[in-house]
Amino acid sequence: MRIEIDRPWDMHLHLRDGAMLNLAAPHSARHFAGAVVMPNLVPPVADADALRAYRSRVLRAAGTDAETFTPLMTLFLKNQTRAELEAARETPGFFAVKLYPAGATTNSDGGVRDFGDAEPTLRAMEKLGIPLLVHGESGGFVLDREAEFLPVYRDLARRFPKLKICMEHISTAAALPLLDEFENLFATATLHHLLFTLDDLAGGLLAPHLFCKPIVKRPEDRAALRAAVFSGHPKIMFGSDSAPHPVEKKECAGAAGGVYDAPVLLPALAALFAENGALDKLEGFLGGNARRIYGLPAPRGKIALEDAPQDVPAFFEGENGLRVAPLFAGTRLPWRVADGNFS
Ligand code: DOR
Ligand code: ZN
Repeated sequence: MRIEIDRPWDMHLHLRDGAMLNLAAPHSARHFAGAVVMPNLVPPVADADALRAYRSRVLRAAGTDAETFTPLMTLFLKNQTRAELEAARETPGFFAVKLYPAGATTNSDGGVRDFGDAEPTLRAMEKLGIPLLVHGESGGFVLDREAEFLPVYRDLARRFPKLKICMEHISTAAALPLLDEFENLFATATLHHLLFTLDDLAGGLLAPHLFCKPIVKRPEDRAALRAAVFSGHPKIMFGSDSAPHPVEKKECAGAAGGVYDAPVLLPALAALFAENGALDKLEGFLGGNARRIYGLPAPRGKIALEDAPQDVPAFFEGENGLRVAPLFAGTRLPWRVADGNFS
């Protein structure tokens, strides 16, 4: 079996900086048309100058693949003024503003503590037509955090009806009805929330490489997400939330949250969609929906996927002894990108 799809978009990606950026960027740039690049660096990407400089570093790290890879840059929400937002909007590659509730995930301490404080910035974004991406939980990692956060989405959607609001990496069945309730609400979904539940993370030996925020949830949550995505839900876009950490930050007490799946996304998604008889919905999930929702550029070229096996290395190595373990490290995947490279 072999399929061809438009070069895909990853609508939620962590590329980091420095040696990690150099390791991670080529994995996404090789096969993707572009990605929405998260701003949670230290310090966060919070103004036009930081955004411009970070975009240059991303393009440099993407190497020759930068010609076919468009980084869509995001700004970390920090009560920016209208003038600051306008400056960011004029920066090449600017895409959206990302809201992190303070302390919700990696490098989010400078995020929003009081939603009232964010009101003027959100109002200005609505006027300027800048999309808002919202990290989907308020912090911590107990099971019902996302459900607790749903009133925040409702409130935002109601108060800012012209603001395009994206629930980033929805992880529960409870979040799905909001997409029908509000025209201005959209969502991204990850590969790992479609694949795994808490049993995979902690039902046997602890699997720290599956630990992420939001955590993977119950079987019924995964089933609801799968049903929505495999039916071709028009408001759900693929956003990997691929988030690399050095091996020693994952395999330790106090492990960091983040699944590094950029290298295996396309084979793993093809296998999952094929197993579920949904291959015809893959292209929409991987870009068609995002193009319609955000007006992204027309496709540039195709990617072929085939059901031929591919071995995933135990880790990828970067500069200065950096090692990162990808999802499915050391296992054999049943599908691959037809050029034989990891994505
Ligand atoms: O698991 C996660 N890791 N979730 C996030 O939202 C952030 C990310 C990271 O930056 O490591
Ligand atoms: Zn993320």
